[in-house]
Amino acid sequence: MHLVTALALCSIGWKKERILSEFHDGKIILVLPDDPKYALKKVEEIREMVDNDLGFQQVESKCPSKTKTFLFISSDKKVAGCLIAEHINEGYRVIEDPAPSGSEGEKMMFERQRAWCCSTTAEPAICGISRIWVVSTMRRQSIASRMLDCLRNNFIYGSNLSKDEIAFSDPTPDGKLFATRYFDTSQFLVYNFVNGTPSTQTKTDKAEKV
Ligand code: COA
Repeated sequence: MHLVTALALCSIGWKKERILSEFHDGKIILVLPDDPKYALKKVEEIREMVDNDLGFQQVESKCPSKTKTFLFISSDKKVAGCLIAEHINEGYRVIEDPAPSGSEGEKMMFERQRAWCCSTTAEPAICGISRIWVVSTMRRQSIASRMLDCLRNNFIYGSNLSKDEIAFSDPTPDGKLFATRYFDTSQFLVYNFVNGTPSTQTKTDKAEKV
């Protein structure tokens, strides 16, 4: 199914929404594992659509009973963004060699294409971002940044997560560029690698992601 069609189907207007933030162009709502079935079913459909867009093969989420889903609903009640977060205990810091010198465009191209490595040393972390996605027509409007801000204020009741307590699951090139900007460093935390846990056999104390 074409993404825009899928998106149109994802029109949302629940009576009992858990609204966390409201903006001129939409709002962020939170869906929790013990919410009514109709809400969870919609979240599952959205996750499938996001996975499809990300090219993930996984059919069902690993632990839906533990995830918290933040949705950005546009003013016309469509799902414009989705962030699925889960509790984690540790993450691994991305390690990067400096980008070669060149124009901004060349650096961006290099960033998009290069593989990333991460440390083999685990660091404590609290929240894992399992998925983050914004509909293509609404990207670069701070929707992902606003969802992440909202996650930090609402993931644990009564506490505000610092950027150092959050890790990204296996970031895509877009995800990496976004995270580097949001965390203000390219050395943010990652977890849940597609290719297994970080290797401890590499001489350089780096585990390479292919
Ligand atoms: N290329 C370069 N920089 C990017 C970027 C991109 N594709 N996406 C975000 N950034 C940086 C920019 O500096 C941006 O600020 P600016 O627009 O003022 O320059 C900053 O991050 C904040 O971006 P924001 O507008 O909050 O992000 P977004 O709403 O566009 O969403 C993604 C970012 C990654 C969620 C979105 O591109 C997406 O859904 N991609 C497809 C799915 C995906 O790959 N998800 C990541 C999984 S780890």
